[in-house]
Amino acid sequence: MSQHTPQQLQIFLDIATEAAMAAGAILKDYWGKLDEVEEKGRPGDLVTAADKDAEVAILKVLKRHVPHHSILAEESGQIGDNQNEYLWAIDPLDGTTNYAHQYPVAAVSVGLLVSGIPMVGAIYNPFRDELFRAARGLGATRNRRPIQVSETSDLSKSLLVTGFAYDRRETSDNNYAEFCHLTHLTQGVRRSGAASLDLADVACGRLDGYWERGLSPWDIAAGVVLVEEAGGKVTAYDGNPLKIDSGRILATNAHLHKHLSTELLQVPPLSGWK
Ligand code: IPD
Ligand code: CA
Ligand code: CA
Repeated sequence: MSQHTPQQLQIFLDIATEAAMAAGAILKDYWGKLDEVEEKGRPGDLVTAADKDAEVAILKVLKRHVPHHSILAEESGQIGDNQNEYLWAIDPLDGTTNYAHQYPVAAVSVGLLVSGIPMVGAIYNPFRDELFRAARGLGATRNRRPIQVSETSDLSKSLLVTGFAYDRRETSDNNYAEFCHLTHLTQGVRRSGAASLDLADVACGRLDGYWERGLSPWDIAAGVVLVEEAGGKVTAYDGNPLKIDSGRILATNAHLHKHLSTELLQVPPLSGWK
């Protein structure tokens, strides 16, 4: 992997920010005005004109500033060579189900992977006007002020978050057992419906940990950088290095990482649930 100076990373971070803000403005414009909500295939996996137009806005920004980079966009798929060192992983609207119901928990997520490693991320929640930014070695911010993960080191005092993928009706590996197990062991487990914001909330210390399966790189690329730059830890469930394509992620304030990993690996099966 080629080395990047802080100045180069800062330029990429500013591009990510410009793209996220442009898409965020579109999400605000469409708010409450959607004529149609389509299902993409799996039940509950929705797409709207807001997703599509926000993605076009992001692609425009990226094509203007970094035309030689590749892009993995939720609605358009892979754009450009898959051997490219630079890959932007973008989710124009993370939290589409919330958005379609006018539940204002949604965000734009723009991440840059360099040789497969998340290096830069911008997540913008237009409904709270919260902009989360991070680049490797440059720290993490919320509305331009530095953020840090929480100090909680006791699972019984923690507040966690998780989510349930669209294939949850098709598999027993649907995270229901994990959710119940950790609900018993903690002060609570939330389900926000926007993976990027779950990671941003761990990064800024509102939540102590997050795990989920069935995710795509565009859901988490930006948030991984945020959590790590805010002092947290991100791995696979078993503590091994995160594989961005595996769909599974464990992100914590670092203090809870081992405990949470141990619990995720020994979840008792749920009985009586089909
Ligand atoms: C979804 C959200 C949700 C998570 C799903 C994702 P979308 O993204 O991040 O929190 O549980 O797995 O697919 O479809 O709203 O962009
Ligand atoms: Ca998403
Ligand atoms: Ca999306």
